[in-house]
Amino acid sequence: MRIDVLTLFPEMFESPMGFSILKRAREREIVDIVLWNIRDFAGNKYGKVDDKPYGGGAGMVMMPGPVFDCFEHVQEQSADQGRVVLLTPQGRKLDQRLVKDFSKEERLILIAGRYEGFDERIRIGLGAEQVSIGDYVLSGGELPAMVVIDAVVRLQEGALGDEDSAEDDSFSDGLLEYPQYTRPEEFRGMKVPQILLSGDHGKIAEWRKSQAIERTKENRPDILK
Ligand code: 6GU
Repeated sequence: MRIDVLTLFPEMFESPMGFSILKRAREREIVDIVLWNIRDFAGNKYGKVDDKPYGGGAGMVMMPGPVFDCFEHVQEQSADQGRVVLLTPQGRKLDQRLVKDFSKEERLILIAGRYEGFDERIRIGLGAEQVSIGDYVLSGGELPAMVVIDAVVRLQEGALGDEDSAEDDSFSDGLLEYPQYTRPEEFRGMKVPQILLSGDHGKIAEWRKSQAIERTKENRPDILK
């Protein structure tokens, strides 16, 4: 899989992609993540990429020119046109179903915006779908783009170690994950539930399922069908 990221702050991506599963997936060439600085396509010596909104209002808006020029350059890098995603709080909310859908693509092109938003012609002209990561406002699309990358890459074949599994993840079966325990058997007076030590795999599976349902009822009644 190839993921191109168009951003004003490519440096922001270096640290999160340099550890753990993302790092390993890149080393194993499971994913090729290519960062592009939109400012390199500003086409003026000041590197101007934003301007005041027509009609007035607070903040600055990303100009279409630099994003289009950057995008066209990026698309030329590979024959696959890619699925184009604009990270914005106005987007469709990301969930595990959309993540799974993205993970099947050969190529994703993520565009992270700063300032108050994108000139609308960027969305229209690039045929981009808009994606948000939740109902709160962040300072830019970079962290959301990293969230998409992390969630998508860990679903790629070979990205997780043998001991890890995406099957048991929260949401993968429509429920939150059951509680987990490891050694020691007793910690500060709190004991590991006896059933997990019983060796009865049928009973353990039953217990985990009922815990998952309880936890989902408690914390996320909205996803309980
Ligand atoms: Cl994609 N961008 C910004 N700026 N804020 C957000 C978001 C995206 N998703 C949730 N909040």
